[in-house]
Amino acid sequence: MFDSLEMAPPDAILGLTEAFNNDPNPGKINLGVGVYKDAANKTPVLESVKHAEALVQQGQTTKTYMPIPGSPDYTTRVRELLFGKRHEVLESERAATAHTPGGTGALRVAGDFIHGMFPGARIWLSDPTWQNHRAVFQAAGLDVRAYPYYDSQGKTLAFDAMMAALAEVPEGDVVLFHGCCHNPSGMDPDPGQWADIAALVRKRRLLPLLDFAYQGLADGLEADAAGLRTFCMPGSELMVCSSFSKNFGLYCERTGALTVVGASAATANKALSQVKRCIRANYSNPPAHGAAIVSTILGDAALQRLWEQELGAMRGRINTMRRLFVETLQSKGVATDFSFITRQKGMFSFSGLSPNQVKTLREKYAIYIVASGRINVAGMTEENMDRLCTAIAAVL
Ligand code: LMR
Repeated sequence: MFDSLEMAPPDAILGLTEAFNNDPNPGKINLGVGVYKDAANKTPVLESVKHAEALVQQGQTTKTYMPIPGSPDYTTRVRELLFGKRHEVLESERAATAHTPGGTGALRVAGDFIHGMFPGARIWLSDPTWQNHRAVFQAAGLDVRAYPYYDSQGKTLAFDAMMAALAEVPEGDVVLFHGCCHNPSGMDPDPGQWADIAALVRKRRLLPLLDFAYQGLADGLEADAAGLRTFCMPGSELMVCSSFSKNFGLYCERTGALTVVGASAATANKALSQVKRCIRANYSNPPAHGAAIVSTILGDAALQRLWEQELGAMRGRINTMRRLFVETLQSKGVATDFSFITRQKGMFSFSGLSPNQVKTLREKYAIYIVASGRINVAGMTEENMDRLCTAIAAVL
């Protein structure tokens, strides 16, 4: 039977990492996958994570199954990080969380839940969006649509076009927003725009689904949650898919969560009971290790402080690289204006490089960029910047 199959194409992002790993060029640079690199071009295990891991190991007495939605300690910490400790949705207990394997696991469970519970609902994604969004939701059986988001000419948010499109989305559909650090454009709504979006979503009776994979990597833990919290009006419902791959550097531990906010505690509970059924039929119950690290850090004031310092250092380095990239391109005599890169947030920006330029960068200079022109700024270092900008100047 397998002989009749066609070979699937490599994944647009993770397939690039495979090709990068196989490239023997010692000067190769990977700006493809969204993984943070420090100044030494390493993806480090955070110190806070190492301390927490030691504590987890010492305290571990069993490897028995986790509850289907994960440990209450972890899910409580997740909610506090999302909404802040004294937020109304926590006090009224109308948020319920399930621990999922990474943010992608959360998105898939959300997709299964939406498809199973609201069979007519479509899901609307920003154009552009993370390449795997469409695949995840289509695999869950959803009808996937797109709304305008990024103005690639003006290198800014296509706010008016987005609002006009959202005003036409039928009641009961789901709209996905990136909580911060929009992937791939790095362009986020400002607070006033978030307020307008949330008001429109509520008026149109749409269900917002926030993909929140980069909390703390734009402006800080609290500031980055502002958009998400704008949707939490009294009685409003929403879903949040969070990931700790980037902000805790826990990529391979697959540590994420799906949080459902209901109009009341009872409705949140009903939704969680259905989410649990989706999980049971998918991976049964979550892996323990990454969540134990996160709850240990967030449950210990000193470890939390250390983690926030480390997160701040990652954020600071990314912003420094954004500025250095623009300055270095200017110093190479590049006429194209790249200053928009310093106005964008998080790991990614759209470089504006064409598929042909991306291909030449890979084939001639061993520089790996996603075909859409998305660059991972967190993969730049002071050491690789000159080589990178020389190559970009040459292909431009
Ligand atoms: C990315 O967009 O590069 C990351 O979210 C990693 C992934 O799984 O694609």
